[in-house]
Amino acid sequence: MFVMDCLGVNEKNNLTIGGVDVAELAQEYQTPLYVMDEDKIRENCRCYTGAMKRYYDGNGLVLYASKAFSCLHICRIAAEEGLGLDVVSDGELYTAIKAGFPMDKVYFHGNNKTEDELTLALENNVGRIVVDNKFELSLLSGIAGRLGKEVAVSFRIKPGIDAHTHDFIMTGQIDSKFGVALETGEAEEIIVYASQLPNINVVGVHCHIGSQIFDIDPFLLAADKMTSLIADLKDRHGIVISELNLGGGYGIKYTSSDDPVPYDAYIKSVSEVVKKVCADRGVTLPKILMEPGRSIVAPAGITVYSVGAVKEIPDVRTYVSVDGGMADNPRYIMYESKYDALPVHDPAAKREKIVTIAGKCCESGDILIKDIAFPKIDAGDLIAVLATGAYNYSMSSNYNRIPKPPVVMISGGKSKLVVKRESYDDLIKNDI
Ligand code: LLP
Repeated sequence: MFVMDCLGVNEKNNLTIGGVDVAELAQEYQTPLYVMDEDKIRENCRCYTGAMKRYYDGNGLVLYASKAFSCLHICRIAAEEGLGLDVVSDGELYTAIKAGFPMDKVYFHGNNKTEDELTLALENNVGRIVVDNKFELSLLSGIAGRLGKEVAVSFRIKPGIDAHTHDFIMTGQIDSKFGVALETGEAEEIIVYASQLPNINVVGVHCHIGSQIFDIDPFLLAADKMTSLIADLKDRHGIVISELNLGGGYGIKYTSSDDPVPYDAYIKSVSEVVKKVCADRGVTLPKILMEPGRSIVAPAGITVYSVGAVKEIPDVRTYVSVDGGMADNPRYIMYESKYDALPVHDPAAKREKIVTIAGKCCESGDILIKDIAFPKIDAGDLIAVLATGAYNYSMSSNYNRIPKPPVVMISGGKSKLVVKRESYDDLIKNDI
């Protein structure tokens, strides 16, 4: 009935998430409020880990891309579910360290890791550094030398596939700030160079072709190109690459018009491609890694708001303003992202009117959902914006000095606070 399958309606005709009444959650924790269904997150993790076992004989590792949503609790969930972790900054790494995440399963990404970040990573024995460029490689080799460590690296490759467009294209990816290009030979060159450096142990290649992708074909093409690179490196240089990381990017259902591929279908098809290329080229099967972020957490999260002013501008538009907005969800203002929303009471009510759900920031573009068919709604009502579990809290800001909402997780029909609401004092704590 709803775009998220962890939602329901109870006997009071209120929306539920993970079986818990959303109106009661709003009462207990106040609004705006992020709510995530932990059981659903775990189910999503298991969908990937199960598929990796089924279709790739367990010779794989699923990394949770923590940029989608990072906090201590989600790191613990990922660890408990046997996932590794993709981090892309010292802050995400620090969160993983503090959560007690197994460091050998942490992969450190980023196109401009600083000396301090690399040092922090090496001191904490992070499993892999995914090297982006030659400058970073020299920096890393130097730090590893000083610390007397050997560091296992993977390389971020641009395979020449751009899946950001609806119909994916195979050109234009050279113009990307991430990684080294495959087709110009840059990738091969840096890997050969790295394999001769002291303190550097080349183990993997990595690519990430985009996000919110609904098509399997670009992933298959990437798998083919990357496995062929592994074979080329062996044939031409005797370099053995044992890890193939194909990134994340699997699309999710934000609105009823989105039609994502079942997650395990990606792993099934990708495994077949990798196995075929390896068999054809006589290469040992590499370990496969995948890095889903959005698809693990987005379909498990909602944001609950209270409605304030409802402004009807005759023949123009009706603005329904809520107590949050671009500070807790900047995805409309950044990408014109589309969301669905429901009233918390009587969520299945007839959607009789087109309204625009607006935030409270001092910014005209501060919209959550433009032109959505919605039931009658008044000041004081609660609404839930759906599928906000990814890239909402993690991209939130204090614009207009608005404190960030708390995050509540639902597990086994019970709620627990995993990130506190920011206080006014939090807002000024670094001011001098
Ligand atoms: N691995 C790498 C190297 C990535 O760069 C990303 C996302 C992922 C994995 C996870 O991708 P996912 O499965 O979540 O699609 N802020 C944007 C999304 C940016 C994604 C950046 N990289 C948004 O709100 O849509």
